[in-house]
Amino acid sequence: MSDAERLRVVVLISGNGTNLQAIIDAQTKGKLDIEIVGVLSDRADAFGLKRAANAGIHTEIIDPKGFHTPEAFDAALAGTLEGLKPDLVVLAGYMRILADSIVNAYQSRMLNIHPSLLPAYPGLDTYKRALEAGESLHGTTVHFVIPQLDSGPPILQYRVQIGGSETEPELRKRVQQGEYIIYPQAIGWIADGRLTVHKGRIMLDGEELLKPVVIDQS
Ligand code: GRF
Repeated sequence: MSDAERLRVVVLISGNGTNLQAIIDAQTKGKLDIEIVGVLSDRADAFGLKRAANAGIHTEIIDPKGFHTPEAFDAALAGTLEGLKPDLVVLAGYMRILADSIVNAYQSRMLNIHPSLLPAYPGLDTYKRALEAGESLHGTTVHFVIPQLDSGPPILQYRVQIGGSETEPELRKRVQQGEYIIYPQAIGWIADGRLTVHKGRIMLDGEELLKPVVIDQS
């Protein structure tokens, strides 16, 4: 595919950027035919910025502390996104809630990954909450973003069985290994034209996707 035809992807991060790294790695290995046109962070100290720079990707820091009002921050972020002309916006550990106007501008063109088997456990501390509740299963979900937090249509889930004496870091590690599989995979489906949205219906390989595809840890 030529540069002009490749899916233009912008990734938003706040921290370590291991999901960003998985996406970069999949692309470098030729498994993901996209162009990452920018990595935006709300924090100057996000390690993911170094990962992007190492891969030669354009980065920008849009820190809310640098703006007088939330509206000014939103306008700066919206303007930067618009300038990069993304086909797809990928939230990868971006720890801010986006303004509805930004989410709505990228309807069906914005993905998030959330560390739970949505609709279970939206919000923070999902590992701790799942362990405390004595769940036997946990996992992570790639979903389209809508204004309601962690509630958009799910696309792909990675599911793990929780061991009897498992600790939070152990569970997180196993779930995150799954994130590095399913996030590049979901983006690849969009890049390859396999996953589309028509009039609000999500289609995968010509069939309506009424529930997420689930991959179990082997
Ligand atoms: C991921 O585990 C994801 O589930 C959550 O934030 C974490 C970000 O990690 N949304 P990283 O920055 O990709 O390493």
